[in-house]
Amino acid sequence: MSKRKAKDAPLPVGECISQVQDILRKRLCHQQLPDTPEGVEAQHKHLLGLLKRTAVHGESNSVLIVGPRGSGKTMLLKCVLRDLLEEKEVEKNLLQVHLNGLLQTDDRIALQEMTRQLHLENVVGDKVFGSFAENLCFLLEALKKGDRSSSRPVLFVLDEFDLFAHHKNQTLLYNLFDVSQSAQAPVAVVGVTCRLDVLELLEKRVKSRFSHRQIHLLSNPTFSQYLERVQTQLSLQDDFPDETFAQDWNASVKTLCEDKSVQDALQRHYNSSKNFRSNHMLLMLCLSRVSVAKPAIKPADLLEASRMCLIDAQANMLHGLSILELCLIIAMKHLNDVYEGEPFNLQMVHNEFKKFLQRKSNSMYNFEQPVIMKAFEHLQQLEMIRPVDSSSVKTQREYQLMRLMLDNTQVMEALQKYPQCPTDVKQWAMSAYG
Ligand SMILES: Nc1ncnc2c1ncn2[C@@H]1O[C@H](COP(=O)(O)OP(=O)(O)O)[C@@H](O)[C@H]1O
Ligand SMILES: [Mg+2]
Repeated sequence: MSKRKAKDAPLPVGECISQVQDILRKRLCHQQLPDTPEGVEAQHKHLLGLLKRTAVHGESNSVLIVGPRGSGKTMLLKCVLRDLLEEKEVEKNLLQVHLNGLLQTDDRIALQEMTRQLHLENVVGDKVFGSFAENLCFLLEALKKGDRSSSRPVLFVLDEFDLFAHHKNQTLLYNLFDVSQSAQAPVAVVGVTCRLDVLELLEKRVKSRFSHRQIHLLSNPTFSQYLERVQTQLSLQDDFPDETFAQDWNASVKTLCEDKSVQDALQRHYNSSKNFRSNHMLLMLCLSRVSVAKPAIKPADLLEASRMCLIDAQANMLHGLSILELCLIIAMKHLNDVYEGEPFNLQMVHNEFKKFLQRKSNSMYNFEQPVIMKAFEHLQQLEMIRPVDSSSVKTQREYQLMRLMLDNTQVMEALQKYPQCPTDVKQWAMSAYG
């Protein structure tokens, strides 16, 4: 890519557009960390200070980063680590172990992973340890520097931290926090979680060893802040190679954000989710509609993107169903029409389905009872149907009362768009009951 100075002659529009797309795509698809994460300056400073104390001064520490999914916990941590590793001394010394509760599902696996990430497989060899604590101790001891006078600082990051609390006896958490409290070796334990009540999951002896430091990411922007964020996320910075183009682009983004219909659409998104992740999703869809012929985002683009984002998630799920499952949903829709939304049982649904089959000469939809039951089970897992009363577990499954969690319009709309839906099934869905 050409690295022209801003003062050079303007670039052809085609090149400008491809550069805009490149820059914004990196920003919106999270391929690039932001230079300074917006709105979390205080948290950034706090965490950086904390980790510096471990990495530079050899103090041990523990901290939890808490916030809903998509609130930027991982991004914050990555930014802090990037800034921390800028110091040569730190880069040379600091060791990192990254664990994830979804991957390391018990302490034995976690320990193996720790050993691997610390490159200590050979040192451990096939030694057998009496306990987790002994093993961890051995690992930390093995990390001591050549002169054995000082230990290298180790950073433990536990993503999905709450899941580690389900490990037997919380041994890993107990031992990590224990080390972080004693002077054995400089370690920092950073837990990342979306559970606000995470401390209540910890056993007393584990909890008492935790520092109780928490960093919360519960950003709750006002609508005007949200609007401003949309504008900055779409705007180009001063270093864009074609100054005039960048000015025009930024002006068009400003106009876009001042449009009434755009603001209304954004308000709907704001009401349902305020985090960067869903916001970026929306903006990415807008960006994909920019081309040389149309080198700006217009209000219509945002409205269309917004519509695509808001398409009902359940309706979307209908598209992933098998034909059998779809037929059962249609049968339930008919039952809903007849009984005006009263709950039904699976036997009734099956009978309804059989009526449809009987009208057909070919037997391509011949399903055994267990297959049908399996399909019902799947629909229940997807929460498309739900038992009316969960206490009546004793009733036979076929006779348990159920409700369809979709309304008729959702079913019909989804059916219109179902890929390769057989015409007879579609007709059956549209036909009146009978
Ligand atoms: N303050 C912020 N500034 C810029 N981008 C952000 C910010 N917070 C979150 N993001 C974006 O949203 C995405 C989702 O955040 P992520 O760190 O993965 O969330 P979490 O780990 O909390 O689920 C990130 O990749 C990041 O690009
Ligand atoms: Mg994350």
